[in-house]
Formats: sequence, C-alpha cells, structure tokens
Amino acid sequence: MEERGLGVAQIGDAHEHHREGEDLEREDHPHQQAAGRVEQLAGRGRSVSGGERGRIHRYAGSYGLAIRAGHDFHQRKESAAMEAHLSARFCYGRCMAASLDALLRPRSIAVIGAARKRGSIAAEVFHNLVHVGFQGAVYPVNPKAPVVQSVRAYATVEDIPDAVDLALLVVPAAQVLETIDACGRKGVRAVVVISAGFAETGPEGAALQLALADRARGYGMRVVGPNCLGVLNAHPDVRMGATFAPNFPPFGGVAVCSQSGALGLAILDLALEVGMGISSFVSIGNRADVSAADLMAYWEDDPDTKVVLLYLENLGDPAEFLEVARRVSRKKPVAVVKSGRTEAGRRAASSHTGALAGMDVAVDALLGQCGVLRTDTIHELFEVAMLLSTQPVPRGPRVAILTNAGGPGIMATDACESRGLKVPALAEATREALRSFLPAAASVGNPVDMIASASPEQYERSLKLLLADPGVDAVLTLFVTPIVTRATDVAEAIARAAAGSDKPIAACMMGSQGVPEAVATLREHRIPTYTFPEAAAAALARAARYGVFLAGGDDPPPALPVDRDAAARVLGAAVPEGARGRWLSPDEVRAVLDAYGVATPRQALARTGDEAVRFAAELGFPVALKLVAEGITHKTDVGGVRLGLRDEAEVREAYLAMLGRLTELGRAGDMRGVLLQRMAERGVETFVGATKDPEFGHLIGFGLGGVQVELLKDVVFRVAPLGAADAAQMVDGIRARALLEGFRGGPVVDKGALADVLLRVGRLVADFPHIAEIDLNPVIARPDGVLAVDARIRVET
Ligand SMILES: Nc1ncnc2c1ncn2[C@@H]1O[C@H](COP(=O)(O)OP(=O)(O)OP(=O)(O)O)[C@@H](O)[C@H]1O
Ligand SMILES: [Mg+2]
Repeated sequence: MEERGLGVAQIGDAHEHHREGEDLEREDHPHQQAAGRVEQLAGRGRSVSGGERGRIHRYAGSYGLAIRAGHDFHQRKESAAMEAHLSARFCYGRCMAASLDALLRPRSIAVIGAARKRGSIAAEVFHNLVHVGFQGAVYPVNPKAPVVQSVRAYATVEDIPDAVDLALLVVPAAQVLETIDACGRKGVRAVVVISAGFAETGPEGAALQLALADRARGYGMRVVGPNCLGVLNAHPDVRMGATFAPNFPPFGGVAVCSQSGALGLAILDLALEVGMGISSFVSIGNRADVSAADLMAYWEDDPDTKVVLLYLENLGDPAEFLEVARRVSRKKPVAVVKSGRTEAGRRAASSHTGALAGMDVAVDALLGQCGVLRTDTIHELFEVAMLLSTQPVPRGPRVAILTNAGGPGIMATDACESRGLKVPALAEATREALRSFLPAAASVGNPVDMIASASPEQYERSLKLLLADPGVDAVLTLFVTPIVTRATDVAEAIARAAAGSDKPIAACMMGSQGVPEAVATLREHRIPTYTFPEAAAAALARAARYGVFLAGGDDPPPALPVDRDAAARVLGAAVPEGARGRWLSPDEVRAVLDAYGVATPRQALARTGDEAVRFAAELGFPVALKLVAEGITHKTDVGGVRLGLRDEAEVREAYLAMLGRLTELGRAGDMRGVLLQRMAERGVETFVGATKDPEFGHLIGFGLGGVQVELLKDVVFRVAPLGAADAAQMVDGIRARALLEGFRGGPVVDKGALADVLLRVGRLVADFPHIAEIDLNPVIARPDGVLAVDARIRVET
C-alpha cells in the first residue's frame, strides 16, 4: 500500500504555531494523544483544499459515518488508502473523540456576535466565559464595537491574530452561513451555534440547518446546535462556561448531554444546588451534527467522566445510538431521561403484541438491553448519578438498612423491596457482634434499629459490621435528628466507616437541625445523601440493575434446530404480487410453527358442518371449534370460539350457531370454515408475540395471556435477536411471575419451555424479516411443557 499522507495532519495545521508557542501547560488529554496518533498514522504531506480536508476530517472523525459516506470522496483511491490507515482498531470511536476535543477542550474561543450590553444572550455567553475563568484565550468578534466588555474586539473572526479552536455563534440565523465560511477560512475546528431560527421553525429553517451542517462539514468543523444553550467543561484546567446559563457547576465525574436547552439550564441549576460535580456538559439543540452518540463515544475514554447522563427527546439514529450505548455502558454507566412518546408514525397494529408494543416499550426494551438506565425524571437521573459517580457498583440486590428510628427503617424497607431490592436477614455473626455493643432495646434484624440514643461510635461500628457481612451488597444509612446526637458527628462517623469499602453506601439524612452541615460533610467524603429513603432506594435499585448488566456477559442467540426451508416454502410464497401483506391461513401458520418447533394442538380446518363433525371425531373429543373468517382476527368478539365440545351433536350445533351469528352480522360470505382443535389440558395462559417496529426492528413480547391480555398489560418486551439469558429474564420479568411458580396450589409450569418458545419466535423473525406480526395467544403453560392453542402470523411485502 502506498504510504501517503492524506492530510489529517492538516486539520491541526492552523494550530501548529499555537501549540508550539502556547503557554497553556496542561498534559495532553488522551483524546489529544489519539488525535496525534492519527496524525502520525496518516503521515504528513501535501496540503489539501478546505473542502477536501473537511471530507477527510469527517472520515477520520467518525469511522462509522465515513463508511456510509464513502462515496462522497472525489477519489476512491484516497478513500481506500485512508480507510487502511484508519481501520486500525484503536481508531474506531477514538477519532470521533479526537474531533470533539476542539469542542470540549479548546485552547482558544471566539465569540462571534459578542455584545456589549449585559442581558442579551450574545452578551451573557461572552461574560460567562470570562467570568468563569476560561483558562485559554477568548476573543469577542463584533464588527460594530472595538471593545466588548473591556476586551479588545475584532471585526471578523479572520482578523483574530491567533489560532481559534472553537467559535461560538450568537449571530442572527440569516448570518450563520457566511459566518461558518469565515470560520472555515480561519481554520476554526468546531463551532457551537447558539442562534435559533433553524429546524425548530419549519421547513425553511430545516433547509438552512442542512446547509449549515453541510457547509461546516466541508471545512472539517464539528457543529453543536443550532438552537442550543452551549457547552461547558468544568475541569479546573479548562473552566469553559460557554453557555448563557447563569450558573457554573462544581467539577466532578458526571457528563451531561441535553437535547433541550431549557432542561439544560435546569440541570445546571440542580447540579449546583445538590453539589453534583460535572465534567462536561453539552446542549445539543437541533443536532445538526454532534449527537448524543458522538458525545457518549467521547466520554467513553474521558478520564474525567465516571457517569454519562442524557436528556433526550429521541434517539437520533437508533442503530448508531444503540451500538455506542451498548459499548460505553460496559465501561461506565449511562443514564437517560427519554421523554416524548414514539407512537406517532407507528402502524396501527391489530395483533395483541402490536397493540401492547405501542406503549413506548421499544425504547424501554432497547435501553435496558444496552445497559442504559432509564429514569422518569431529572431528579431521579441525578439521584442515580450521585450514587454511581461516587460509589462502587453493587454486586447484587441485598441491602442492609441502618437507622436510629423505626418508622424511616420500615419506609426504607418497603421502598427497597418494591423496587426489586432485597432486605435479607443478617448473618448470625453480624447480629451477635451488633448485640455486643448496642442497647438491649435495639433491633439487630434488618433494618438494624439502633434507637434514638444511637451515638456516632455506634453508627461507625455498626456500619463497618454491615459492610463486612457477606450477605450484604449495599448499605443504606438513615438518620433522623434526635436531641442528643449531632448530625455532623454522625456524618463523620459514617464517612470513617465507609472509607475503603468496596460496597456502596447511600445515606439519608432527615430533619433540619444540623442536617445541612452533615450533608455537606458526607458530600465532601463522596457519600451520596438523600432527603428521603425512597430516593435512596430508587438509586440503589438502578445501580443494582446496572451491576446485573455488568455481571452478565455476552448473550448471543443460541443455535436451534429449525427447518428453515419448510418455513420458507410457506413464507416465501405468502405474499402475492402487488398485495401489501396478509394474515397466513391456519394451515400455513401451523406449518411455520411446526418447522420452528413450536408445539400446537392437533387440528383440522373444516369447510362444512359435515366436515366439522367428521374431523372432530377423528381428532377425538373434547374439541374446540373456532371460526375462520375473512377480516375477523379476534374470534371471541363475535362468539367465534366454542370450547369443550363433547360429541358430534355439540359440534354440529356449534357450527350452525356460528354460521347463524355471521349471517346476522351480514358477513356469512366471509366465512372460510371452522378450525377444530383438540382441547388442551388446563394450565397458565401466557402469550408470546413479535411485532416489527419501524425504527427498532422486531420486538419480542412475553406476558400473561388469554383473552384479557390487553386488560392485564403484564408484558415484557425485548428487541430481537434474543439470547438465552434474555429469554429467561423475560419469563421471570412479568409482574405475575408467581402464577408460573405454583401460586395458591396452581401448577409449577415449565419456564424453560416458555423461554424456548421465545427463542424460537426470535429466530423465526430474524430468519424472515418480512414477518410483521406474530401472536401466540394463549400459549398454555403446564408442568409438562407448553402448547400454542391460538396463533396468527402476518407478513408484509
Ligand atoms: N384448544 C384449546 N384448548 C383449550 N382451551 C382453548 C383452546 N383454544 C382456545 N382455548 C381457550 O379459549 C380462549 C380463546 O381462544 P382463542 O385464543 O383461540 O380465541 P381468540 O378470540 O382468537 O383470542 P384472541 O383474539 O384474544 O387472541 C383461549 O384464551 C383459551 O382460554
Ligand atoms: Mg387468542
């Protein structure tokens, strides 16, 4: 291969003098090292035009994107050479990260449109940058003012004598394109477009936004926004407050990406209020270029970031988001508030699975499978972040509760149990040790109630014992201000006991007397504190779920013996030319399920009353008789299911009754016949289904089944393909799980057989992606196996 520099090095050219002459003494961030490595790899050589450089930069900047955008390159040969250079494994994702360095660790910033008079966004952004104490250089650009807020201003960005890494645009939307050009010519590496007036205003604005992204890409500049609050890096070496938010949060391990500027403001306020340390913050606005996935990839290797928080209204490119989220959450927790429903645009579904899957469950399932923690509110987002950014991840769900008052202990226990945590009995050794120094009135069960006289020393000794108990994964300490003990002394004691523990601790300080000081003390020692036990329990429960995700390894779909060819003979011929799709006939459904090893009862389709009687006798009584009619999917609704027919007379009567009913409805012509089935033995009715989501692909559902499935709504969804662990978790994941495990003398059903059906349905939709819906409802589950007594499949073209 020809060793040729393709000019990734040129990305940094404009900054060479800057780097050499700079007096910013800070160690190269790993991302900058990665960027340097790209430069080495790509070699240095001929210079390239701005546009070409842009394309190359984009290529280097986002490996995944570049493969799709490969045809953009004028010269395919160069593209191939570049690909070879960059396909070195380390580059995947890291080049992306390197390209965001100019955004989050710039050495110099121009504020284009910086205004003199305080109070406007254009003035506040510049004021904040200076006021917060940005460690690099800041240049105001304003053609009308020689000085902006005591700083010498430049008429255009190109007039600035030094290199500019990052430009903040606070100019009217109409001027943004020409400003981008000026930045491009200047060699600016990233821009944050704070200005509004783009896609949020309508089609014209959307076109302008596309033009903006395109133009910036041509110069190899990354774009944040437009219509955003700005970006922020709280590291003491950077201290970049490039937002118009009045507050600057403390530095810490939490990175935040917000799709909404207004919520971004609220998040920064809350961070300051609860003292949560932020590493960096990006308001992505309309997302012309930089997305949540890009930022996750950046934070993945950012040593300052311990936890990633996202506020999103949609996932952008779901496939990209999920790929990155899955990878990043193996390294550090990602938590998200995903607001907005995804129902719009979803096809109205006529299957149970389709109807149930409309409830935002696709997003839930996907996030869960990627290890991303979803919360309902920003508060909860912070509560879990406080825990995960300061404490080890719990290895299991077992919580010990330590308290000086009974009531809060009971509340905490309830809160833990209702969120899936366990509050188990303590080891006998732990109880004995506790008894040796606690008063006789204290309770050494779990919760451990040391009663109101509890001293700081007792808190310290007890907490140490609880942390050492092998049956405990996390400890929740509760404190209600009594008259005698000082809250700060207890906080100090908790901190001493917690030091060096490899199990997480959450503290809950209730009351007002001395509590604010105690909370401050705990925070100093990096112990997350909460006002009420419910919040602490919710955070612990989410952290425990993350622990389960980390503990689980890869879960690939298992190999299953299926007869794909047999199914293909049915499914391949299923959709006639020109038709949009259709439901398979009962015989076709049967053939497909047979091929994929899903058990169904013996059955036969009869077209006349005489046939019905004859087939019933052949199957053996008792039988079920079901209507098969064009356009009727839910048979029970029209009296189309008759059960437990014991002889020929009953079958004939049932057949005639069904025909009569359809005639009454004026639909006798739609009748195709009746399906006769052997009656299955009693068991628990469950349902298994699959539906195709327009964005996320096939979702597999499992739940309590039967004719009331929509009423019960006890369903769990996962995105296909399923692994064996996924399938088992689904079966265990329904609320009514106890019904499967012998509830009140009921049968203990074969859960393994249920999980197996899920895997087979998952495999079926993976093999035949044009299956739009499958409903197996009910799948009757018994101790000796499962039987799908009602099944329907719809295929699309
Ligand atoms: N072969 C069978 N053996 C035992 N019970 C059966 C059998 N077939 C149906 N049932 C019972 O009848 C109920 C309704 O049957 P089926 O699911 O076929 O009708 P449906 O109206 O199409 O249902 P839905 O549209 O709600 O899926 C089942 O939930 C089950 O309780
Ligand atoms: Mg049914």
